[in-house]
Amino acid sequence: MNKLFTIFGDPISHSISPLLHNFTLNSLGIDGCYIRTHLKDGNTFRDTFFNNKFDGANITVPFKEVAFTQCDEIRGIANEIKAINTVIKRDDKLIGYNTDAPGFYESIREFSDIKSALILGAGGTAKAIANILRANGIKCTILNRSHPRIEYFIKSGFRAYSWEDFKVDRFDIIINTTSAGLKDDTLPLKKKLLTELINDTKYCIDVIYNKQTPFLKMAKKYKKPYKDGSKMLLFQAVLAFDIFFDNRYKKDDIEKYMKRAFKLLP
Ligand SMILES: NC(=O)c1ccc[n+]([C@@H]2O[C@H](COP(=O)([O-])OP(=O)(O)OC[C@H]3O[C@@H](n4cnc5c(N)ncnc54)[C@H](OP(=O)(O)O)[C@@H]3O)[C@@H](O)[C@H]2O)c1
Repeated sequence: MNKLFTIFGDPISHSISPLLHNFTLNSLGIDGCYIRTHLKDGNTFRDTFFNNKFDGANITVPFKEVAFTQCDEIRGIANEIKAINTVIKRDDKLIGYNTDAPGFYESIREFSDIKSALILGAGGTAKAIANILRANGIKCTILNRSHPRIEYFIKSGFRAYSWEDFKVDRFDIIINTTSAGLKDDTLPLKKKLLTELINDTKYCIDVIYNKQTPFLKMAKKYKKPYKDGSKMLLFQAVLAFDIFFDNRYKKDDIEKYMKRAFKLLP
């Protein structure tokens, strides 16, 4: 079969997607390989994909939006999010999907009775999460540090505020999609406000993975069930693999092998 896959991003050396996909390709006996592609200019995404004869790819920061504009066809919820993280080549056409969104939803299935969500941050991940939650009947509010990025959410019919104009409310789940806590020890919101919000919520999620961020430490302090972004990462990869191979393999097997690969991480 000899299939070739990649992940596009900048930076890209940290990505664990090659580990997850190669372990699974290998375990399923598929003749294929998944590599990293360090893209500098997002406008070259489509040409780079075709010139290297890739069969499928994932796209990460900061190219999810620009890749969306270079596909021949977009399927599913990616049409609303206007950003993709997965593409496949079919009949020399590039077809784009967003598996971050359903991957996130899958990751919170064990949290029951969620009717309202507060999403901290208004970037690409917030768009994916807001759209999938709304599609599943959950009322979403977006809270961002500054104004420009909340425009998309307001235009799309969400309740969206900057720090300046937000008024405290109660939410079933609080989701941190900002990069606060990724490379530093900062909170995604002013401490006093965040304390009030966490105190009054049921669950907390941070999309940052393999790290107990200051946000999650606060959730722990207030005894709220919480989780990091590992499961989201796992499920978006499972769904992408399933798309790469047109549902040919059992999803349970893909998940099983990807979970094993995850355990190999230091
Ligand atoms: N687990 C997974 O599978 C998964 C998947 C995708 C992404 N992620 C993670 O999600 C995070 C966000 O990614 P993204 O693509 O959505 O990023 P993005 O598009 O760059 O958006 C970042 C958002 O965070 C806000 N922000 C950044 N630093 C902040 C700070 N110190 N305090 C408060 N707000 C801050 C920004 O606010 P402004 O608008 O004011 O700048 C912006 O709204 C990253 O940590 C990424 O690694 C995880």
